[in-house]
Amino acid sequence: MAKKVFITGANKGIGKQIARQMGKSGWTILVGARNEDRGRAAARELFEENIEAEYLNIDLQDSKTIPAAVHAIESRHADLSMLINNAAIPGDMHKPGYEFTTDELRSVMETNFFGPFELTRRLFPTLEKNKGRVVNITIPIGVLPFFNPFAYKTSKAAFNVMAQSLAQNFTEKSKAVEIFSIMPGATTTDLNGNITGEYVKTAGESGRLVVGFILDGKNHNGEVLSESCAAADYNYGLF
Ligand SMILES: NC(=O)c1ccc[n+]([C@@H]2O[C@H](COP(=O)([O-])OP(=O)(O)OC[C@H]3O[C@@H](n4cnc5c(N)ncnc54)[C@H](OP(=O)(O)O)[C@@H]3O)[C@@H](O)[C@H]2O)c1
Repeated sequence: MAKKVFITGANKGIGKQIARQMGKSGWTILVGARNEDRGRAAARELFEENIEAEYLNIDLQDSKTIPAAVHAIESRHADLSMLINNAAIPGDMHKPGYEFTTDELRSVMETNFFGPFELTRRLFPTLEKNKGRVVNITIPIGVLPFFNPFAYKTSKAAFNVMAQSLAQNFTEKSKAVEIFSIMPGATTTDLNGNITGEYVKTAGESGRLVVGFILDGKNHNGEVLSESCAAADYNYGLF
């Protein structure tokens, strides 16, 4: 199997650290990014660390860039064997759900659910041919008193169902593809205004955690992996 991975949102935060860790393990990185300057800079940075890396434009809110990215992969990287759906936005993390407009919710759903679904759907033939994997970077969506961002959780709920439902389909239809989810846990990044705290990881620590699961040599189809919880707990408790 070729070691080539497309990572969305790989120009900063956890995605960039996943890219670095995968690259250090010998993977070629397709740096998916919306912000071109940061995307090219991240690919260059990886390249300077002796990691094979190439920038690939993708804006999950722009329906034209998704087929264009998939076309570029099919023509130049047909041996792609992994997609990491990492890019996401939080929306307003503090506003109560009843104050959201439908358009505000739709915008978060586009980035966190419809875009990743469209990308996964379009890359499926390539990944199936290469016996590949899809890895979704996500959060637990149970409502907690201290963490209840409406649009972020609503969109990630759909994203989590997508992974588990597709995993079931792959098993039933004997498809040679895996899909699973990883929850890195609270991490200091732009997404949360760079929060800090005793239990908050650096992006580097979260990148290492994620890549540890990805490269552990096990089949994880349908699992939801996190540092603190057994996969099975989440599989039955998430929804
Ligand atoms: N931080 C945490 O505490 C935490 C905890 C658990 C899970 N996660 C998950 O980890 C993943 C990465 O988040 P992060 O914390 O590293 O956030 P981040 O630093 O804000 O990075 C988010 C990435 O998503 C990209 N992105 C945003 N909108 C996009 C769009 N429309 N199209 C393509 N790319 C887009 C950003 O690219 P641009 O440069 O173009 O904006 C950026 O590369 C997310 O799925 C998040 O839900 C984060």
